[in-house]
Amino acid sequence: MQTRSKLEQKDIESLENPYRSIPAEITSIVDESPNIKTFELDPEEEIEFATGEFIQLSVPGLGEAPFTPSSSPNATDKIEVTIMEAGEVTGKLHRMEEGETVGVRGPYGKGYPLDEMEGRDVLVVGGGVGLAPLRSLLYMLTAQPDNFGKISLKYGARTPDHLIYKDQLEDWGSSVSEIDLELTVDEGDEDWEGNVGVVTNLLENLEVDTEKGVAVVCGPPIMMKFTTQSLLDHFESSDIYLSMEKNMSCGFGMCGHCQLGKYYVCKDGPVFTHDQVKDIPDLWE
Ligand SMILES: Cc1cc2nc3c(=O)[nH]c(=O)nc-3n(C[C@H](O)[C@H](O)[C@H](O)COP(=O)(O)OP(=O)(O)OC[C@H]3O[C@@H](n4cnc5c(N)ncnc54)[C@H](O)[C@@H]3O)c2cc1C
Ligand code: FES
Repeated sequence: MQTRSKLEQKDIESLENPYRSIPAEITSIVDESPNIKTFELDPEEEIEFATGEFIQLSVPGLGEAPFTPSSSPNATDKIEVTIMEAGEVTGKLHRMEEGETVGVRGPYGKGYPLDEMEGRDVLVVGGGVGLAPLRSLLYMLTAQPDNFGKISLKYGARTPDHLIYKDQLEDWGSSVSEIDLELTVDEGDEDWEGNVGVVTNLLENLEVDTEKGVAVVCGPPIMMKFTTQSLLDHFESSDIYLSMEKNMSCGFGMCGHCQLGKYYVCKDGPVFTHDQVKDIPDLWE
C-alpha cells in the first residue's frame, strides 16, 4: 500500500491535479445518535494525518465537504469520520452503506499543537458532534499520559440520546480512566441521573490548574462563544484553542472561500488560539 503523507503548500500547488481524491471504501458505519454516524474508511492509499487536521470527503457525482477525522492518527490503515447530517453531502453520506466508495483528499490545515500542550493540564470542552475532532486529540493525549498533566473532558449534548461515542464515554467515565469526565445534557430523560444544563455550567467549579493549563474547545458556534467567555476568566487567551468552521472549496488556500479576518481557515486553521481570532468582527456568526 502506498503512503500519502501531509502535503506542504508548495507540493499542493505543484500537483497536476490538487483536487485528486483517493477512493476509500466504507468498511463500517456506527449510528452514534439520531443524526450522527461514524464512518470507518479504508483508503486505497494510506493517508497520514495529525490530530485536528481535516480531509475533504467526496460523494461521487454530488460534491464534497470537510471533516476532521475522529480516529487516532496512530491507527494509520483506516480513518474514522463522525458526521452530522446537515445538508446535501452529509445527507447522502447518511444514506450510504458499508461497501460503497467515497473519495478522500488531504489532509489539510493545522491541527492541535501537541508540543504546546506537553507538561500542561488539558481541559477539553465539547458540544454535540464537536466531540469528533476532540476524540482524536484525546486518543493522542491518553496514548502518552506521562507527557501531559491532568486531562479533563466536559461534554454536552441536547439529550442523552444525542451523546456520541456512548461506549467510550462509559470507559472514560470509569475510575481507571486517565480522563476526568463530566457530562451534561440540555434535557434529560427518565433514565438520566447526570447533569442537566448547558456545558458552560460544568466550567463553574473548575478543578484544573488553569495557571499551567490549556483549554481546547469544539462545538456549535453559540456553545464556543459562551464557553470561551467562561474560560477567559481562568485561561490566557493564547492558551484557548478553538476549531473554527467556514464554508470551504479548495481546502488548501487557493480559492478564498474560507476567509476569516486575515486568515484562511483551511490553511491557517482550522485550529486557532482565541488570541489569534479574538478581534475578528462577528467571529461566531
Ligand atoms: C474544518 C472543518 C471540519 C469539520 N469537521 C466536521 C466533522 O468532523 N463532523 C461534522 O459533522 N461536520 C464537520 N464539519 C462541518 C461539515 O463540513 C458541514 O456540516 C458540511 O460541509 C455540510 O455539507 P452538506 O453538503 O451536507 O450541507 P449543505 O447542503 O452545504 O448545507 C449546509 C447548511 O445549509 C442548511 N441546509 C441544507 N439544505 C437546506 C434546505 N433545503 N433548506 C434550508 N437549509 C438547508 C443545512 O442545515 C446546513 O446548515 C467541519 C467543517 C469544517 C470547516
Ligand atoms: S477553502 Fe479555498 S482558500 Fe480555504
